[in-house]
Amino acid sequence: MIAASTQGKRAQGIRRVNLSQDLGKITDLIEVCFSPRMDAGARATIREMRALSRMGPLLGLLALGDDMLRGIGAGFVWEEDGRIIGNVTLFPARVPRDVERTIVVANVAVDPAYRRRGIARQLMDASLEALHSSGAGAAILQVETDNAGARQLYLDLGFRTERTWHEWRRAREMPPPRQLMNSPRISLRPGTMWRTEYELARRIFPAERGGLGWQRPLHVREFRRTPLEHLTGFLSGTTVERWIVREGRQIAGALWARTQFGSGLARLTLLVPPEEQERLVDPLLNYGLRRLSLGTHSLYCEHPADDVYTTAALEGCQFRRRRTLDHMRLDL
Ligand SMILES: CC(C)(COP(=O)(O)OP(=O)(O)OC[C@H]1O[C@@H](n2cnc3c(N)ncnc32)[C@H](O)[C@@H]1OP(=O)(O)O)[C@@H](O)C(=O)NCCC(=O)NCCS
Repeated sequence: MIAASTQGKRAQGIRRVNLSQDLGKITDLIEVCFSPRMDAGARATIREMRALSRMGPLLGLLALGDDMLRGIGAGFVWEEDGRIIGNVTLFPARVPRDVERTIVVANVAVDPAYRRRGIARQLMDASLEALHSSGAGAAILQVETDNAGARQLYLDLGFRTERTWHEWRRAREMPPPRQLMNSPRISLRPGTMWRTEYELARRIFPAERGGLGWQRPLHVREFRRTPLEHLTGFLSGTTVERWIVREGRQIAGALWARTQFGSGLARLTLLVPPEEQERLVDPLLNYGLRRLSLGTHSLYCEHPADDVYTTAALEGCQFRRRRTLDHMRLDL
């Protein structure tokens, strides 16, 4: 059932979002439902949504250039007692153009007073039906591993967990570590070795387990940048440094650091196969931390929770675990 039913004057049930009318109420609902788990970034998004909700009819126009707004506008709400008490947001994942159209399901929320009545399930059913009819290839979502209720809902709908990931942060105030003795030689990856690095990543981050992480399918584009992509990266202030430990024609391990001018955040990606972890994880992290200008950047890293060795190494380098998330997927 996608259309809302009406009882007297009050609409009741599921309907599509009307962005200019609903954004304020959806923001209130999201705040109520997620506040126990919200970090500073999420709170800033809530403030931004609330400010946008006052833009009225202009919102439709703004949504053309804003993924979050467009996603909220493409979603569904459940209305009851004159209020919005349930929501699902649907926005396109940022994946390369030649990957099947993948939709992120987010902001799945039901007001606490209306829970366990099947509202989330019906909202999800309507959303998946709409995605299927629109020709989308897959739906993905992330859910905190300890959110048993939501996980069960998604499993019942046919989602499967691709991989569980820890999210790590290292505060900018933390000093760099001392240089390690006896570190293997670490150098910048030559552009010509992109395929070797891609093959390494295929072993560590196979596509069928979600690839490199959230909205990062394993794709050659992450490894082989065209001159145009280099130029757009440069113009948008994005820098990716790729440091490797090279063994002849092979790459034994790698660390990437992606920085965006003005963001204050650097993102690390560590690619080390299990048999090289003891030898390479600490030296690569040590090198990366000393190379980055730590006073100006906090560090962010997303890494598989099943990699126990790297988990301990990140803790040893003063990274703090923020969340543990199951990445789930449903092929439509
Ligand atoms: C998760 C949430 C959306 C579920 O909404 P809901 O309308 O209560 O869910 P439904 O009634 O449709 O439940 C469908 C199924 O999900 C599972 N489920 C939902 N909540 C559950 C809970 N608290 N404990 C155990 N299972 C639960 C059950 O399998 C349930 O089926 P059942 O009632 O037949 O046993 C709601 O609890 C919520 O808003 N939570 C806070 C926000 C959040 O965590 N969202 C998910 C982010 S990924």
